[in-house]
Amino acid sequence: MIVVFGPAELADAISAVFAAELVIGAREDERLAAEPATAVAAAASLPIPARLCVVASERDPAELCAEAGRAGGALEATRTAVVGKRPPGITEAAWRTSVEQLGALAVKDVVELAARLPAPAPTTVRGRIPDPSPAMVREAAVWRDTLRTRRRRRGGSSLRRADRRIGEQQLDAVIRRNLEGRCRTVAVISPKGGVGKTLLSFLLGSVLASVRGDRVVVVDTNPDFGSLADLVPHRVPATIADLLRSLPQITSRHQLEAMVTSTPTGMDVLAAPQDPAEMSRLGGGGYAAVDDLLRRHYDLVVYDCGTGFLDEVTQFALRRADQVVVVCTPQLVTSRIILGAIAHLEETRFDLRRGTLALNTTTPGGDLDVERLHAALEGRIGGIVEVPHDERLQRDLDLGEFRYDRLRGRTRLAFKRLAAEAVGRLPATVSVELTGTAGGGVLSAAEQR
Ligand SMILES: Nc1ncnc2c1ncn2[C@@H]1O[C@H](COP(=O)(O)OP(=O)(O)OP(=O)(O)O)[C@@H](O)[C@H]1O
Ligand SMILES: [Mg+2]
Repeated sequence: MIVVFGPAELADAISAVFAAELVIGAREDERLAAEPATAVAAAASLPIPARLCVVASERDPAELCAEAGRAGGALEATRTAVVGKRPPGITEAAWRTSVEQLGALAVKDVVELAARLPAPAPTTVRGRIPDPSPAMVREAAVWRDTLRTRRRRRGGSSLRRADRRIGEQQLDAVIRRNLEGRCRTVAVISPKGGVGKTLLSFLLGSVLASVRGDRVVVVDTNPDFGSLADLVPHRVPATIADLLRSLPQITSRHQLEAMVTSTPTGMDVLAAPQDPAEMSRLGGGGYAAVDDLLRRHYDLVVYDCGTGFLDEVTQFALRRADQVVVVCTPQLVTSRIILGAIAHLEETRFDLRRGTLALNTTTPGGDLDVERLHAALEGRIGGIVEVPHDERLQRDLDLGEFRYDRLRGRTRLAFKRLAAEAVGRLPATVSVELTGTAGGGVLSAAEQR
């Protein structure tokens, strides 16, 4: 990946010359246009290591290079290059020397940059996230193409037509499948914040409780200011930290019920403490103890995780999860980040066939060509589900007035698809056969039956 701190024209020129590499500039992530500390922090938080940071010579190279040098994260092993004209009143040699003193390379244009720092052959270094493979780069191109093309084919893709043919009753049948006793776990994750993890966790739990009639609990495992419990009116004040403290005294379901907020669908909600320090004090042992207790009393546990994959609690949820929902919104930058995230999960040997990609807040008519998206992710993820933007749902949740029976048809179907994808792939002796590799996943199988 190449990160560009400079104007859009520079990023375009770099994209053209380094055609096989992911290029992230301010158009993809507007924070890169901010002042140096913010811009570099944003770049460092990207999920793919940057092999190269390109700084436009007119953009405060001294500060950007210094910040990039100590940023770590995605910029840990990055080289920095300053591209463009030297400032007036300084010789070429003096300019190059001053840039070298910043630990960077001075080049006059992108062609010289390509000659001096050409793209390396793809390698996988043990223990690190690899640079994007050529396959991944091709996929990124597909995403870019897909997202930029405002194609509105009549009737949408064949997959969408297939999806529509899968009626609600069929979805309910998949969701109700017999899971034979043992408690199952679904983790809802994303490398991006604010993409709808909490909303999806809440709705997924509601559908599972309502359709299966199971005991379902949704747990806020966001390490920083989780907002799950805000979605229910009259929440109980207890949090996962209180539950852990009271663990030895909780011997009955009745005692556990005092620590969770129940909702009309029968789904319970376990809140996170608002103090991130308190959440982090729980530690791996704490989460495991709470998880063990919940498994004894519930049929399904949904973990509403925080942003990113590396914090202890998300790592814990991923280890315990039978299924994972990766949430993404259909914008170019989010989608690229999701590709990086998928590559990261693969690198950590997480079996993403246990995963469903939820494309949240898609708009009616659809700007995404889901078929091409399926092709891009073929064999890499279990299923893909589109969830529409639903203002009424958002309003109802924000005001604590959500009612399951008021869910609009399209939104309700989307959440049922999501639940069917997750439940359809949960391990049980009675298996629901999946079609081939990915894409249509459980839903295609349901359609064929
Ligand atoms: N499909 C949707 N339709 C309408 N609004 C939505 C949808 N999905 C999410 N939202 C709204 O977007 C906002 C952010 O969603 P949410 O809190 O679920 O994201 P998040 O990924 O959990 O965020 P965080 O990273 O802070 O935990 C909320 O106001 C939510 O109601
Ligand atoms: Mg959240």
